[in-house]
Parts: sequence; C-alpha cells; structure tokens
Amino acid sequence: MTIIYIDNKKYEVDDLKNVLHNCLLLGKDIPYFCWHPLLGSVGSCRQCAIKLYSNKNDKVGRVVMACMTPSKDGIKVSIQDKDVQKFRRSIIELLMLNHPHDCPVCAEGGSCHLQDMTVMAGHLYRRYRFPKRIYKNQYLGPFISHEMNRCIHCYRCVRYYKDYAQGTDFNVYGISNNIYFGRVEDGILENEHSGNLIELCPTGVFTDKTSLKNYNRKWDLQYAPSICHFCSIGCNIIVGERYGKVQKIENRFNPQVNHYFICDKGRFGYGFNHRDSRPYKPKYFTSNSYKNLTTNEAIRLAQNVLKKSSKIIGIGSSRASIESNYALLKLVGSKNFSSGMLQDEQLCMNYIVSVLNSKEFHIPTLYEIENNYDVALVVGEDLTMNSPRMALSLRQMIKRVNNDEIINKNIDQWNHLAILNIAQNKKNILYNINTNSTKLDELSSWNYITSIPNQVKFFLELINQMNNQSISNDFCDPFLTKKVLEIAEVLLNSKRPLIICGSHSRNVNLLKSVVKVATIIKKMNAESEIGVVLLSDNANSMGVSLISSISIEKSLSIFEKTKNSVLIIVENDLYRMFSTAKLKTIFNNNKTVIVLDHQNTMSMIKGSLTFPSTSFFESSGTIVNYEGRAQRFFKVYDPNVYQKDISVMDSWRWLKLIGKNYYITNNTWNNLDDIINDYANNIDQFRNIRKAAPNSYFRIINQKIPRLPNRNSGRTALMSHINVHEIKQPTDVDSMFAFSMEGFPNFYKYSSHIPFIWMPGWNSPQAWNKLNSTKNLRCFNNDLGIQLFDKKYIAPNVDCKIDQKKVYERDGLRIIIYYLFFGSEEITQYSSLIKTLIPKTIGLISFEDSKRLQLKHNAQVQFNCFGSLFSIKLKISNNFPVGYIGLPLGKIGMPLSLLGQAINFLKEAL
Ligand code: SF4
Ligand code: SF4
Ligand code: FES
Repeated sequence: MTIIYIDNKKYEVDDLKNVLHNCLLLGKDIPYFCWHPLLGSVGSCRQCAIKLYSNKNDKVGRVVMACMTPSKDGIKVSIQDKDVQKFRRSIIELLMLNHPHDCPVCAEGGSCHLQDMTVMAGHLYRRYRFPKRIYKNQYLGPFISHEMNRCIHCYRCVRYYKDYAQGTDFNVYGISNNIYFGRVEDGILENEHSGNLIELCPTGVFTDKTSLKNYNRKWDLQYAPSICHFCSIGCNIIVGERYGKVQKIENRFNPQVNHYFICDKGRFGYGFNHRDSRPYKPKYFTSNSYKNLTTNEAIRLAQNVLKKSSKIIGIGSSRASIESNYALLKLVGSKNFSSGMLQDEQLCMNYIVSVLNSKEFHIPTLYEIENNYDVALVVGEDLTMNSPRMALSLRQMIKRVNNDEIINKNIDQWNHLAILNIAQNKKNILYNINTNSTKLDELSSWNYITSIPNQVKFFLELINQMNNQSISNDFCDPFLTKKVLEIAEVLLNSKRPLIICGSHSRNVNLLKSVVKVATIIKKMNAESEIGVVLLSDNANSMGVSLISSISIEKSLSIFEKTKNSVLIIVENDLYRMFSTAKLKTIFNNNKTVIVLDHQNTMSMIKGSLTFPSTSFFESSGTIVNYEGRAQRFFKVYDPNVYQKDISVMDSWRWLKLIGKNYYITNNTWNNLDDIINDYANNIDQFRNIRKAAPNSYFRIINQKIPRLPNRNSGRTALMSHINVHEIKQPTDVDSMFAFSMEGFPNFYKYSSHIPFIWMPGWNSPQAWNKLNSTKNLRCFNNDLGIQLFDKKYIAPNVDCKIDQKKVYERDGLRIIIYYLFFGSEEITQYSSLIKTLIPKTIGLISFEDSKRLQLKHNAQVQFNCFGSLFSIKLKISNNFPVGYIGLPLGKIGMPLSLLGQAINFLKEAL
C-alpha cells in the first residue's frame, strides 16, 4: 500500500495498481476507454487525462494519462483541474466526430460505456456538422452483431480477442484514420469466448444478436444472480428476463472463478428455456394417447401409484440442484437412489471426492491457475470443449511472464505493452496428453496423443522414474523414454506445477495414475506448491456425488427385477445414456415411470406420468463446482405468473407433494431454506452449505434486494396495446430478492449476490470496475460460494492402486469419447439456435484402421451396438490411436453407454 494525494486529499491505495484503477476503486469518476483491469494499459485513447504535479511546490503540473501513471508513494494528482477537464472534453468530442447519432436505436443504449463517458466528460453538444466515416459491417455469426460505424478505435476488442483469448480470426486492419476491427471476411467468430466482446467494447459495435429481436433496455429487464449450468466450472452469471422470457446472459464478476469473462456456451446457450415443446402441464400417458392433468390430479395419481408399489427407485441428475436430488433421496431412500451417472463416471467421481476429501492437494481456482503456476500437465481433458473457461485461464498461465522478471525489470504489472515486450515468445510449459488433438495443442511443449491404456502406461513409467526406479524393460520406445525423463525432471523441479485431469475420460485408472504422480511430487519436493484440478462433467456432478448413491445401471436392474416397482427420474434423460433398444424394457412394460423435467426429452415422451419442472432460470437452488465450491443460483422469474393455466414447479417441490404422507416424513420444507437446513443437518459434507448465500430472511434495513434497476420513467412499451398495467409479481419466499425495483438500493456493500451491476453514472458492465476487488465486494461471509471440502475426512493416503489388468486389456475397435463445444452438454442441445451449430456426428479413426477396414475419409458408415443401428460419417485422423473409434457420446442420438464397447462390424452404409 502507498499514499497518494488526489485533489489535495490523502488516500491509501494499492501501489501495484495504476492511478486510474485506484481512483475508480476510491469511487472517483475518471472517463476512460482503452484500459481494462485484465487487459492492462496502453494509453491509446487519451481519455483518462489527469494532472500530475512534480512536487508540492509545482502549481502548474502536467497532463498525463491516469492509466499509465504508477501509484508511487507521495505523488500529487488532480482529476478536477480545469485544464484536464477541458482536455477530456476535447478528446471525447474528437472520438465522437464519426460516431453516429443512433443511441435511440442502438442495442447498447442505456448500458453503454460511451454514453456514460460522454456525459461524464461533459461533452453535451455536438458541433461537428459534416459527413461521417462509413464502414461496411460484417456477418460474425448468429451470436454477435457488428456495427463498425460506432467504433471509437480504443483497440480493446483486438487486444482481448487476439492477445488475451488468442483467437486467430479477428484483427485490426487499415491505416491512419481508416481502421477496421473485424475478420478478413464475413464468417462466424471462431473463438469460444467471442461473446465477451459484447461487454468489452465500450460502445455498440458488438451487441448480443440473440436478444436483439426482443429489444429491451437495461432498465426494462428483471435480473437475478445465477450460476451457469453448462459445465463444472460454475461461472457466475446475471440472467435478464422480461415477460417470462430470458433475454440475455451477462458475466457476473466473481474474483475467484470467472472474474470478467464467460464462454459462449454460458452466454448464448439459454434458448432451451423457450423451446416450443417445453412441458408446462403434468401428463398421464396411456398406451396410445395422453391426458393433461391438473396439479392436484397429477399429485393424487402419483401418490396412489407409489402407495401400491412394492419399491420406488429414484434416478437423480448431475444437472439438477442438490435440493432436487435430496428430495428424491428422501422419497426413495438411500439404497434406491441413483446419482444418475453411469458406473464409469460414478467411479471417477467417487475417486475425485476421496481425493478432495483427503485434502492432500491444493485445488486451485481459475484466478490461481492464471497467476500461480509455471508448469501444467493436462491429461485426458479437452478443456476448450468441456471446461472452456478453464482453457482461457490456462492460456493466461502459459503466456504469463514470471513475476520476478517483471519486478527485476522494474515494470508495472498493468503496463501491457512493456509486458508483451519482455514476454516475446517465452512461455510456460504445458504438456498435453489426450486421445485426440485439442485446441490447446498449439500452446503445448509436447502433445502425446494415444489411447488411455497407453496414457496409464506412460504414467506408470513416470511414477517408476520419479521413485528413482528404472524404466521397465517393455517400455522400449526411446522417444517416450526421453519424454518420461524430461517430464519427471520438469515436474519435480517446478516450484508450482499444476496437474489437470478429471472424469471426462471415464477412466479411474488414469485418474489414479495422475494423482499418484502428484503424490510423488509432493513427497520428493517439499518446496513444491503443487495444484491438482480434477474436473467433472456436469454442473452439479460434484454436488450429487456427495450424496451416497448407486449407479444408474444398478438402479435400472433393480427396477427391472422388482415386480410392481416404480421408477422416478428427475431431470435426466435415459436416452442420452442408453440405446433405444435397451430402454424398451424400461419404458414399454406395464410399470410406471414418473419423469420430472423442464425439457421434452425422450424420457419425458416415453414416461407414463410426467411433471413439468422449472429450469435453473426459473428456480433457486445450489450446485457444487469442480473445486467443491457450493454456489447458489436464484430464479429470475416465475413462469406461472406469465402463462396462466400451467403447472410448473421446482422438482423438489413436486417430489415433496408426491411423497408427502407416504415417504417424506417430518418434512417442513416450506421454502428453500427449509430443505437446505434439512440436508445440511443430515449430510455432514453439506453442513456449511447454508453459508453459500444469504438466506431468504436476509434484509438490509428491513428491505429486500431489488431485481429491477431503478428508473425514473416507465419501461419501454411492449404490451401497451394490450394492457398498460404490468403483471403483478409474486413474493419470492426462497430468497432475499424482490421481484420489484423497490428494495435497498445500495446492496453492493452488503452482499456479493448482485442481480445487476450499476453505479451512479455507470450504466454499462464497466461499473464492475468501481468495485472489482474482493475488498470492495463486501461479500456475505467474505466469499462467493462456500468450499465444502473444508475438513479432512478419510484416511489421508488416497488410494492410488491401479488395476493393471484392466489397464492393458483391449480388443476390437473400441469406442472412446470426444467432446464438442456445442453438442456434448445436454441441455444446450435443445436450443434451436445452438442446434444449428452442432456439427454432424463424425466418427474418428486412425489411418491404419481405415486401411485395414477399407473405409475412406468422409464415408457414411453404420454399426450395431446394444441392438441399435448407428449411422455416422467417418473422418480419418493421422493422430488417432489405432484400434479405437472416437464418437461424440452424449450428443443426442449417441448414448454415453457406448463408451468402451467393441465394434465388430463397421461397414459402409448402402
Ligand atoms: S470495436 Fe469497440 S472495442 Fe474495438 S476498437 Fe472499436 S470501440 Fe474499441
Ligand atoms: S465455462 Fe462452463 S460454467 Fe463457465 S460459462 Fe462456460 S459453460 Fe458455463
Ligand atoms: S484509458 Fe487511459 S489512455 Fe485510454
């Protein structure tokens, strides 16, 4: 910390931040454009001018850019000085010369940084009366609109897209006063994090195309803080809604997790919520038809069925909240409750939970990954496809310049160009081991693309080598031997190595071998501050794994064998797991299958009694991310308010009503707090989960937190031709938020759960920069979410015994899994927009196998498995391991249980 003087007042500030950043955090207003806390300073827009005085006798001072001024001890600066005010006014006037007068029709209007800064800098009248520069806009894909005439040439977009996210299809072109930011030609932006341009660009060049047709201003929307449900990272998001429709998703700053950026899946994948075929009423299916039921009829029917049954089996879900899974557990009992994961995945998750519970290793946050590590070993995880936000963090880690070097060269961390200059082509080490090539290969020092048994074998040799034993005789590849020696040395000598593995390969042996390597590093190098990340597949895979359960295969076998049993499936689609042929016996005999979901999945279509549940935009609950961080999400609207005559409820509420009086005894779950208290008291691992967020009684000066931003006029008229009155909103019994703009206006100071970001004079997402430090976010419990692995549970020695027999067994052409950015995650596949971006199903095989089977590249082939016929297009890959076929399992039509199956007849389709 250091002391600086701003307009003759003394302030204690962070000496690692520049003057602009410190002034913003102190609540002062300085207009700026090109600076961004993560992109650093380049001093190009000249908007953040302040006066810097050489000493206390200096009365004249000189104009400097606040973003390029270090916060040195004792410096005197002025924001209010008349010269700098005039300077800033002139700069904004120059920047606005070519800017169109289109605020009323610009999608950015009302939450535009350029609007805010124009007002802040005092440029109130436009004097320029001549023709403006005109650009041609580009088609950048279905997510982002491009309106280049609005550009003020701050260079943020290209610094983010090219330098930060390392996208290669976007750049700056032109010269002098004719500069263009875009692609070489029209086309979909390729980077998985392109949507962040919308929030980064200070003006309306990049706007959200998915919400454009609904045309809403910031103050028209109702917001709620939420958690993205599309992978296990748990990025914090803000959901904006109007008239019962999700209109947009924005990033919500969490200093430990996603901070300023989310991926495009999280930002644009919400379309499933308004799919035409969404179920809104309970239904009872008879042999050829179905009947819509009222809420009471459906509950009574379900209660009767349960009463008459001999056994109730429950299949939960890793995409449903802990609350819904827990309600199912209470209804069916722990012996009959399945986590909804296939056995292979469940084995991996149980192992991951045991590693986290052992507390042997530090599990780093995304922030720590970016800032703390110098070597990374990624094994069996295609991060860009299955945990995209972590891939973005890993990219920052790889190119991060060593802190000591920055300090030795006396360079400030925020000085972007100076850092780029010393970085040149240097990078930290990444080893990437997988069954297929990945996008991170371009950054890695070495990629090893091979089968999982070979990966395990490689790690067994690495373990031997690290244990000072010699490499086995049968490991005779000299190149791989050299690599074993190299990686062993690098990992053992690194001060901060990072190992990333997870459940995506569905192979517990691989996980064990990787954890064993981490254990040896810890033992051999006492100085090593090793970090271990063990990723899981779905948003709540970790949460549901903390509840004792049986695998989905076992639950189905009990259901099939037990006469007069009933199966309840909660927010899970068995058709994504098993082939249609296999499920015939489950859905087509005379037993009752009750299904609860918010999508019309095949299981909902085939179920005998179905209940429409809320999506995560319409409900509040808790999920647990890969670190074991429990995070609460909050409903942004209640669908029953906007659509009359529908019966949509949270799954746990349906289960409570269905099980009442019969199986769920002593339940007093009147709101979310009650069910949270129940499982927090009954399952030890959840004992602290109440602290994940304030409860529903949390008030600030007796007031709730408003979901709507303040406004001085009405909302833009969308429905006034029908009715000038807004629909009456319900009372939210589950949270501290009100469906209203009334409530305590200054909630930022008290809670980290922020429904929308706004500061006086700051309407755009840049308002985060006024409170973007953990200190300024005076969070409830000083954290965002709560870490559940807070005490050592099981014996500290994590089981690393590898079942060698299983490792080496192999025959035929075995199916392995590969992941797609769009098309692997379940729910986003139901969005009509995302559907257009999901690639056709491709099978990957090696060149050797294609020759052996006499199959050509792009051939349409068929194979039979589990009694079902699958048709795919083949792609021959030189890198692909021999003896395997890669399929995008989890994509609708490609059941996950195909993993590991042998294909004997792969033949060209006629
Ligand atoms: S497009 Fe936006 S972010 Fe890029 S230079 Fe122009 S104003 Fe800046
Ligand atoms: S990285 Fe995962 S959690 Fe984060 S926004 Fe993307 S899909 Fe959602
Ligand atoms: S923000 Fe300082 S010059 Fe642009």
